[in-house]
Amino acid sequence: MPNLRHDAARDPALEAALTRAIRGHIRGQTPSVKIAKFPDEGLAPVYAFRRIGSTMDVAHELASQGASEGTLVWAARQEQGRGRLGRTWVSPEGGTYCSVILRPNRPPAEIPQLSLVAGLATAEAIRELAGVSPAIRWPNDVLLDGLKVAGILVEARGAAVVVGIGINVTTDPADLPPNATSLKKVTITFSASPVDVTGALYRRFRAWYDVWYRSGFVPIREALRPLMGLFGEPIQLSTASERLRGVASDLDEHGRLLVRLDAGPVRPFEMGEVTLLR
Ligand code: BTN
Repeated sequence: MPNLRHDAARDPALEAALTRAIRGHIRGQTPSVKIAKFPDEGLAPVYAFRRIGSTMDVAHELASQGASEGTLVWAARQEQGRGRLGRTWVSPEGGTYCSVILRPNRPPAEIPQLSLVAGLATAEAIRELAGVSPAIRWPNDVLLDGLKVAGILVEARGAAVVVGIGINVTTDPADLPPNATSLKKVTITFSASPVDVTGALYRRFRAWYDVWYRSGFVPIREALRPLMGLFGEPIQLSTASERLRGVASDLDEHGRLLVRLDAGPVRPFEMGEVTLLR
């Protein structure tokens, strides 16, 4: 059993509720598929906190001590939530803030695909519980009405990969940045809790991760295509070295964004920050 620095801050009641929530199968599907890569149903270790700095840090600490694949770290509130590119992830009460430890044993070039695997699971969980269809803005944003409702952060250290997912569930929009929204804000009848959302999210992530592990990115791309909000849209793409304009056209079989550049051909991009130009 890993010896966690934050052990005393764990919340056993929350851990029991989350363990119940993540157990079982995706609603509406027969439990016929044995998920090979994750622990059996309900056996994933869960570490839950009323508040913590960042679930990413706890997950990395656990991973460095050998925590098993599928281990879930969850917080009701984060004091140092972080996003991509060194940004802060504002994490007040009402959100789902979780990190899942993976040991994918895949070439480093494939690891960024996990951001899209998680985006797919997040969008589907939101659709299941809130009845609304979010759009995915490559590579890691989940949007409702053009505003960010969830974000994904993938960090690899050694053989372990930590996938962090933040979803604004019942969060008061006044507590969020202006470009963000919450499920409660966009769906008046929404009644699920952050724990319920985590259950739906984890089960879908486990299933899609297994598909990715067995069959690669192509089936993920097929499922993602209808959710990609960008295709056919004029965009600006900023990378570490360039700022380019064009029209986003598709994902390739590696999860790279294909952009028909204003100044020339279609080019694949592995990383970057997309702004819609409409
Ligand atoms: C982004 O959109 O830039 C990524 C945001 C990722 C936020 C999640 S919340 C759970 C986990 N812990 C963190 O500190 N960050 C991720």
